[in-house]
Amino acid sequence: MATSAEREEQKRQAAERALERVEPGSIIGVGTGSTVAYFIDALGRHRGRIEAAVSSSEQSTARLRERGIRVVDLNSVGALNLYVDGADECDPHKRLIKGGGGALTREKILAAASRTFVCMIDAAKRVDVLGRFPLPIEVIPMARGYVARELVHRGGTPVWRDGFVTDNGNVILDVHGWRIDDPVALETELNQIAGVVCVGLFARRPADVVLIGDREMT
Ligand code: 5RP
Repeated sequence: MATSAEREEQKRQAAERALERVEPGSIIGVGTGSTVAYFIDALGRHRGRIEAAVSSSEQSTARLRERGIRVVDLNSVGALNLYVDGADECDPHKRLIKGGGGALTREKILAAASRTFVCMIDAAKRVDVLGRFPLPIEVIPMARGYVARELVHRGGTPVWRDGFVTDNGNVILDVHGWRIDDPVALETELNQIAGVVCVGLFARRPADVVLIGDREMT
């Protein structure tokens, strides 16, 4: 099993590889998390390589600005060519669990609005079947109890991420205990529950490219 230092090194390598995909002068979408932090730092060392970034969180916006990268609103740009982000789990079909950092809704919007979604992970996040990592679900605060009961009916064990508020003013339920054999079906079903803002399954729109350390997943 990789040590945490080895995992960090794989994240850093994946971020360097992702940088190779960035077209000079473009506007790109940028995700959230510790892997993305390596990517933003790499972008900062090549300042001027991109025109601007659309950010998926207040956290990434702050880091981008600190490194001199202009941040623009998604509504002021057209479709993005590239979205770069991390993930919590990835299956062989490049379907993901995301939202460990709580930015899943804006991340899903940017993935949807982008032609190519490049996902950077370390090897420990690669799984055959999604579900070892608890599935984050963003929920309207007044619906927390109702949605939790609906998730229990479906065999999950939701845990409220107590004290955490998303950039959209909502709460997160982390659902334990699911082996997700059909992520597209589960994503579709959970999206129908009233009060659910976003499900951290990226299966209907998976990644296009997955970078695991310095190699691309095939
Ligand atoms: C944030 C995310 C992150 O991409 C995910 O949690 C992975 O984070 P890290 O790169 O820190 O391991 O989905 O909402």
